[in-house]
Parts: sequence; structure tokens; C-alpha cells
Amino acid sequence: MNGVSELVDVAQKVAIEASEFIRTKRLDHVAVQNTKSSSSDVVTEVDKASERLVFDRLHALRPRDGFLGEEGGSDESQSGVTWVVDPIDGTTNFVYNIPHYAVSIAAVEGPATPEEWTLLAGCVVNPSTGEVYSAGAGLGAYRGDSELRVAEPVNLQEALVLTGFAYGAHFRKHQAQLFVDVLPRVRDIRRMGTASLDLVMIADAQADVYFERTTSPWDFAAGAVIVQEAGGLVTGFHGRAPGREAVFAGHPEMVARLHDLIVAYGGDIPLEEIPPLS
Ligand code: IPD
Repeated sequence: MNGVSELVDVAQKVAIEASEFIRTKRLDHVAVQNTKSSSSDVVTEVDKASERLVFDRLHALRPRDGFLGEEGGSDESQSGVTWVVDPIDGTTNFVYNIPHYAVSIAAVEGPATPEEWTLLAGCVVNPSTGEVYSAGAGLGAYRGDSELRVAEPVNLQEALVLTGFAYGAHFRKHQAQLFVDVLPRVRDIRRMGTASLDLVMIADAQADVYFERTTSPWDFAAGAVIVQEAGGLVTGFHGRAPGREAVFAGHPEMVARLHDLIVAYGGDIPLEEIPPLS
């Protein structure tokens, strides 16, 4: 697609600069500045400063593009392209100095909602390791210069499953109950704490399949392009678009197997029907 490689270059350049900014900031003490949807959903001054940096750089390089950022930044698109940005994905890991957080930058065409967008380009950078993952639609997915390929399918009993937990307490209770049935039927699960890095791990065959609910567009847009370009499928429940209700990612066969297991145990209950905590 015309212009996609330029979008990949821009995503990489800005994500690497933001990653270096975050890495330097992490050398000092980092305090939780505020909480958002719940006490688990933390934000620091560095999240906000990183988003400002990304916004300014993208605006300078591509002034007609739109912007949608986790920390509230938004700008209407005049070009049809919108940047979907998580300035620090995995903020809890960042706060606790666990070296597993990321800058995630995607370019999408059309409305910046997963049901309607076309994914064009994505870059995910882990500031702690310096690893740069990127992909452009039709151009393949890479970690540095190495091309990525999702793992070949295995039986669920031999599958390493990545997942994440929602910030709302009643969602967490439901997720914990669901995994009572899922955990004995898979090799193991990992809750690494950074959705964008979960997705690049899937693209890099470091795990077999990913599933999460309540994810926001910025958590998975860049990682989704990378998984798709690595030969994987990113989808929601019952063939619907990925989004807040669910994101599955992996080899299409693995996604089908985990999807059916989750559905068999009632894991596809609509989010608004999950009962409040008693
Ligand atoms: C969160 C992380 C986490 C995932 C949550 C995300 P944030 O992003 O990616 O792994 O489980 O769904 O919201 O809040 O740290 O940017």
C-alpha cells in the first residue's frame, strides 16, 4: 500500500525517541501521580510527558494526521490516517521497575475504532531491552532485522497462553473464575502486564496464543498489525472485530482452539452482564 513504509519509518523513529525518554526517566524515582478507572489503573507524570512528546513529534512529521492517545490526547484527522498511541503500555511494571513495559504506536486508516479501522503500520519498543518490533500492512513484521512468524499450532495442553486482567474489580473476579477452568487445560499461563508486548511475543513465537478483555484501542493496535504480518489472526468473539469485548491473537488454529475453550466455560458473557461484586 502506498505510503505504508513511510508510516512504519515514522512510527519507529518516534517510538524509539519516546522509549529513550522513558528509559532516562526511569533512572529517577517514579511516583504514581493518579489513578484512573480503579486503584489498579495507575498513571505517572512520565506517561503524560511521553504522550506529549509523541504527539509533538508526530504532529511535526505528519501535521494532517489524527491522534488518539491513552492519556487523553486527541486530534481529528485531515488525511484519513490516525495515530493510536500508548505512551507507556504496562505502567504498573514501569512504576515497580519491572523491565517489561513499552511504547506502542500504530497508524490506522478510517475511524480510530477497531470495528472500523484499517491497520496500516505499528511499532512497539521495549525501553528496557531496546527491542524494536515493527510491521506495515503487506510489508511483514520484524524484530530489528529479523522477520517474525507466529508459532505453529499445538494442542491446548501444550500451549503457553498470555492474558491480562481488567482494572474493574468485578471483571477481575469473573476472569479469575474463568481461569479456574482454563488453567488445568493448557500448558501454563503468563500475565506479563503489557498487552503490546504480549502481542509481539505472539508474533515472535515466544508464546502460543493471547486472550484478553476490556482492552483499549491503544493497548493492541500496533501489536495487532505486527501479529497479522507475522501470519497470525487477531479477532474478537465469534468472528467479530477485536476490541473491548475480547482480543484473541495467535496462529488462526490456536485462536480457534482457545476461543472455543473460553466460550465453553462462559467466558464470552457480555461485559455489561458480569455481575457487580457482592
Ligand atoms: C495495560 C497493560 C496490561 C493490560 C491492560 C492494559 P496500561 O495498559 O497493557 O497488560 O492487561 O489491559 O490496560 O494501562 O499499562 O497502559
